[in-house]
Parts: sequence; structure tokens; C-alpha cells
Amino acid sequence: MNWKNPSPADTATFPPKDVFQAGLRNHHIANTAYPINHNVTMKDYRVPRADFERTAAAAWAGIGEMGLYVHIPFCQQRCNFCEYTVINPATNAEWEDRYFDLLLAELALYQKLLATRRRTLVGFDVGGGTPAFARAENIARLLDAVRDSFRFAPNMAMSIETTPRIAADQPEKIAAFRQMGFERISMGVQVTQLSLAKKLGRQYRGFSGLLRAMENIRAAGFERFNIDLMYGFAGQSVADWRDSVEKALELGAEYITLYRMRYKGTMLAAHAAQVEKETVTRMYAVAHKLLNRAGYVAVPGKNTFSRIPGDDGCSDYLSRRVVHGTPYLGLGLGAQSLTHHTLAYNRGAASKTIEPYERAIAAGRIPVQDMYDMPRVVSAAKFVSVAFYFGGINRRAFAEKFGVSPEEFYPRAIPFVLENGLMAYRGDNLNLTPKGVENYNGVIALFYAPAVQAYLLGDAVKIG
Ligand SMILES: C[S@@+](CC[C@H](N)C(=O)[O-])C[C@H]1O[C@@H](n2cnc3c(N)ncnc32)[C@H](O)[C@@H]1O
Ligand code: SF4
Repeated sequence: MNWKNPSPADTATFPPKDVFQAGLRNHHIANTAYPINHNVTMKDYRVPRADFERTAAAAWAGIGEMGLYVHIPFCQQRCNFCEYTVINPATNAEWEDRYFDLLLAELALYQKLLATRRRTLVGFDVGGGTPAFARAENIARLLDAVRDSFRFAPNMAMSIETTPRIAADQPEKIAAFRQMGFERISMGVQVTQLSLAKKLGRQYRGFSGLLRAMENIRAAGFERFNIDLMYGFAGQSVADWRDSVEKALELGAEYITLYRMRYKGTMLAAHAAQVEKETVTRMYAVAHKLLNRAGYVAVPGKNTFSRIPGDDGCSDYLSRRVVHGTPYLGLGLGAQSLTHHTLAYNRGAASKTIEPYERAIAAGRIPVQDMYDMPRVVSAAKFVSVAFYFGGINRRAFAEKFGVSPEEFYPRAIPFVLENGLMAYRGDNLNLTPKGVENYNGVIALFYAPAVQAYLLGDAVKIG
């Protein structure tokens, strides 16, 4: 690979101890959502708009296996804590059919630009927002177009998301998803306290609603069922959290995923300062213990726990992305796409409106807002940051992608994490230890590109 040269900001080096401390200080933003503040830290790699199509076509050349993510920006309500691209629910009805037309048009643009029919999907997620909000007919026509545009790898499992309310109230839609071929379904439970849910702007109908949702998911024939829970909210006690985990366990899902609240860019950004790192560390530990006791396992630091041996619990799309850094194309509002050296964000993530996305497609342009052509140090930082979803780095995948071992590439960070007992070898992986999990925000920062480390060292603690 002919990598782009790094900017001067990305050739700096900082003492690992300082970077580690800066990550800990900035624990609300030093996480897997990388890069941080891309408008500033990545500005030197910005691709001019006129070059988007040419750069994308060149970057995708030679990529045979890939993931596909399709974003559905509709929800029944907008939860205060949500970090995703969701449009004003009052306009859903006006937009839904039109939006699916646009998705199909965007796919058609890529079909032509990238000759997608020659490429193989190894993972395909429909996410949101709430994809289950959409009418089943719209999801079906999307799926038909995707099947017509790509080859599907044998055994590749497609995944979709729902809220408990939709799963409880619309069993026929959940059954239709299963019949279309979706094998994994993920449902956001988040919290199980009525008063906390209310403060978060989230509907919660009590445990009976969750039970009905679960029964409908099972009746539809889903055998790969995931529940999302969230911790780290201001006003959420450890006892509340324990209760949420226990209720989720009663539902008997195959997988449970724990999300620590990320405040950046959300309506709750001002609450971040009220949440101590020690509390969230304790919450993770409490959940870990309860889940392990119930037979759900995950390597240290991983957020998805599975009770199925040999199944990591995540969608194929996410697993391939995280472990192997498999390139993915994101379609829809605000969706992100990654090749080995380019990173692109679609229009709409900031404005949360569809019009700018629609205008690009109407003009026959791919609806990208920002595209970056990354040097190796930035691409590696993205790969490793995302790898921490699964608690560490697959060394072979790193070497295949970047042409050097992680040890050669990080000659200061890796000795630091080993000497301090933060990471350890586990087979061919370099994984977080329990001490590393407790100090995860410091560890992850050690692998960030220098421009992002400088941003943290300058104490980027303002979240918003
Ligand atoms: C796209 S949402 C999923 C599904 C569905 N709309 C729902 O809410 O049930 C994916 C998951 O991301 C998590 N999430 C949302 N906002 C978050 C935030 N600010 N920080 C961390 N996780 C978040 C939630 O657990 C949510 O279930
Ligand atoms: S958490 Fe789910 S339901 Fe709530 S706004 Fe975000 S995507 Fe929509």
C-alpha cells in the first residue's frame, strides 16, 4: 500500500505516561468512537469534494470482501441520551418512503462507481435509529436491492435493530424480518427504572412490555437475540444498574451488550461531569460478575457477553470490522464508510435533516459530507481503537493490514502497557488485563494518532 505522508502533527511523539494520564482525564471521550474531533485532528487529510468519487473508486479497488451498513434515521421518540443520527420524529411519515427511495438511489450510485456486483458481503447490518420503525415493505425492498447489488458470503448473518415497544406491539413485522432472512436481532432496553427512563426521554412500559417483546422475537424464530443496556447516567445508582442487568438476564437473550454512556454531542452532554470514572468502572465490574454467574462470557473489556459457546455475540458486520478491520460501506444519513485508507461520513450527521443528503443524490453525487485520505498512523489508530470493542488487538490482522507487527509499529506504547500490567498476550491477541479494563480510557489513548493525543494532552475535556 502506498500510504499518504502524515502531517507534522502526526509525527510528534509524547511520553506514554502523559498520554495514558490524558486518556484517563478525558475518560468521557477517550473511547472506541475514533477519531476525536475529526474536523480539527484530521483536517490535513481532507479530500476536496470534487475528488470524492475518484478517491472512493480508487480506495475500493481491489477490495473483494466488505461489510455493509444501512442507516435508518427514524424513531418513535428521540431519547435524550442518543448519539445517533435520528430525524425529528414529527416528520417521519412525510419522509419514510422517500428516504428508502434515496437509499436505493445511493446504492445504485455505488453499484456503478464501485462495480459492487463483483464484491462479497461478509456482514450486513441495518441499524439506526430504529430500523424496525420502518414498514416491512420498505425493509424488504432495501434487501432486494442489496441482494441484487452484491454477492453474499455463505453463512453471512444479517442483523437488524428494534425497540421493545415495536417488538411488543408489532409481532407481524418482527416475523416478517425473520422471514426476509435476518438472523440476529438487537433490542435496546437501556434502563429498567420508570423514573430514570422518563428523565432520559425514553419510553419504558415495565417488565411485562419487555417480556411481550421477547416472546414475539422468539415466536418469529430468532435464535440470535441481543439486548442493549446502558450505564453511566447521572442519577443512575449502582443498585439501579444491578436491577437492569438482573431484569435483562430474566429475558434469556443469547447476548447482552453493555454500553457506557457517551456524552459527546448528546442532549445530556452537560451531565458528563457528574459521572465519576470510579462509578462506571464499578458498574462494569458488577455487571461482569452477574453476567458471568449466569453463563454469559466475554474477554476482559469486551462489551458484548454471549452465552453461546463459540459465538462472540456480535453481528458478522461488527465482528469483521472490529477483529479484521474489514472495509465497510455505510449507506444513509450520517453513515460512515471505511476502506484501508479512507474514512468518509455521509451528510446529515450534524444537521439531522435529510435534505442535504437528498440534494447530493439528486445531483448524482455520492452524499458524502467529509472524506479523509489517511496515512498509516491514522488508519492504524482507527483500527486499534475499534479493536478495543473486543478488548484488544488481533496481532495477525494488524500485521496483514499494516505490513508490520503491532510491536514494531508501537515501540513505546506496547512496552508501556506490558510493563504496567495493562495488557497481556492471549494467544495471538494483545488483550486488556483486568487492570487494563479499569484504566481502559488511558490505554486506548496510547494507540491514537499523535494529533489526537495532542488534543487530549491539551485537555480536551469540554464535552459537547
Ligand atoms: C441505534 S441504537 C438502537 C436501537 C433502538 N433504536 C433502541 O433504542 O432500542 C443502538 C444502541 O446504542 C446505545 N446508545 C445510544 N446512545 C448512546 C450513547 N450516547 N452512548 C452509548 N451508547 C448509546 C443504546 O444502547 C442503543 O440500544
Ligand atoms: S436510543 Fe434508539 S430509540 Fe432512542 S433515539 Fe436513539 S436510536 Fe432512537
